[in-house]
Amino acid sequence: MLILGFESSCDETAAAVLRVENNKMTVLSNVVSSQISIHALYGGVVPEIASRAHCEAITNVCREALEDANITLDDIDAISVTFAPGLIGSLLVGVSFAKSIAAVLNKPLVPVNHIEAHVAAAYIENEELAPPYLALVVSGGHTSLYNVRDYVTFDEIGCSRDDACGEAFDKVGRVMGLPYPGGAAMDKLAKEAFEKFDYTKKGALNFPSPAVNDDTFEYSFSGLKTAVINHIHNEKQKLKVDDLPYDTKVEIAGAFTKAVCDGIVKKLSSALVSTDTKTLVMAGGVAANSHLRKAVADVCAKHKVKFIVPSLSLCGDNAAMTAAAGYHSYNLGIVAGSDLNAFASDESAEDYLNNLKKNCKR
Ligand code: KG4
Ligand code: ZN
Repeated sequence: MLILGFESSCDETAAAVLRVENNKMTVLSNVVSSQISIHALYGGVVPEIASRAHCEAITNVCREALEDANITLDDIDAISVTFAPGLIGSLLVGVSFAKSIAAVLNKPLVPVNHIEAHVAAAYIENEELAPPYLALVVSGGHTSLYNVRDYVTFDEIGCSRDDACGEAFDKVGRVMGLPYPGGAAMDKLAKEAFEKFDYTKKGALNFPSPAVNDDTFEYSFSGLKTAVINHIHNEKQKLKVDDLPYDTKVEIAGAFTKAVCDGIVKKLSSALVSTDTKTLVMAGGVAANSHLRKAVADVCAKHKVKFIVPSLSLCGDNAAMTAAAGYHSYNLGIVAGSDLNAFASDESAEDYLNNLKKNCKR
């Protein structure tokens, strides 16, 4: 079957066509129109500007996805769309557009949760992957661990108590003067840092761990973020400069990245042991971080857990992942009615989704 997916929960307008045959998924097209250059002027996503930019882009993004896949709308069997969580104005653009297409074509419309879609990206390249497994979602809005019991049942067993991991990367990046969003630039600086500095040496720069010091699987990134930002301000004052020397930035990026990776791995390690999972999926924009990929691969190898992480192009927001999640929901009979709405939070979407799930074939 052919699924047309849409994603517009934050600052990427995306459409994709996914072909699924006997559980094997093939991405026929995956178009992402990013608003990064617009929001870079403000150092973060401006919600109203994001909604307007989605409105301008979505028709052409959809057209391009169909052209790249070499199909027309008539060939589509189902449409899937991110309906929660995210920026409400942004979500509404994708939901309204997808609803119109589904209504005109008289095709099923499948509502997809953005976090579950990030995890579903892992099905695209791993035909054999099936629940149950443990999933770590690290993105601009989430840092959460889930017990994925079946394709649509995600039990959260841990999360960040405050900032998401990606948010910390972006805020530290901004104060350091890195291009927005800071994650990718920080990744490169940290690579240089690990070649230049030995962070295990006594007296080496180090920052507080984001792993909460208790036996939960919870994180806290705000303390780490504040410690790094204070350090940056202190260094600037000490050196009497507005912009830190390159090597100082490199050293800070390395210490920050080490704190993030060590902290994530610490909680993850206990979760792998206590859940006795056989497979871990890592997903979300921060899953593109090369150091975190290596650190999580290592801890999984240590515990003999199979580690699955999507390719870089499937980690950030895209619609192929929405189509992949939509396929599994559709298979279980989860289809929206003409009253489908968008919801900013998981909590607000819960009643609507639970109602749809009540009658599904789990
Ligand atoms: O999943 P995503 O595209 O959007 C949300 O759902 O939030 O994640 C975006 C986040 C941003 O914070 C961005 O800085 C971060 O992913 N990111 C990275 C890397 N690439 C993207 N963070 C660390 N290292 C990277 N290589
Ligand atoms: Zn995302």
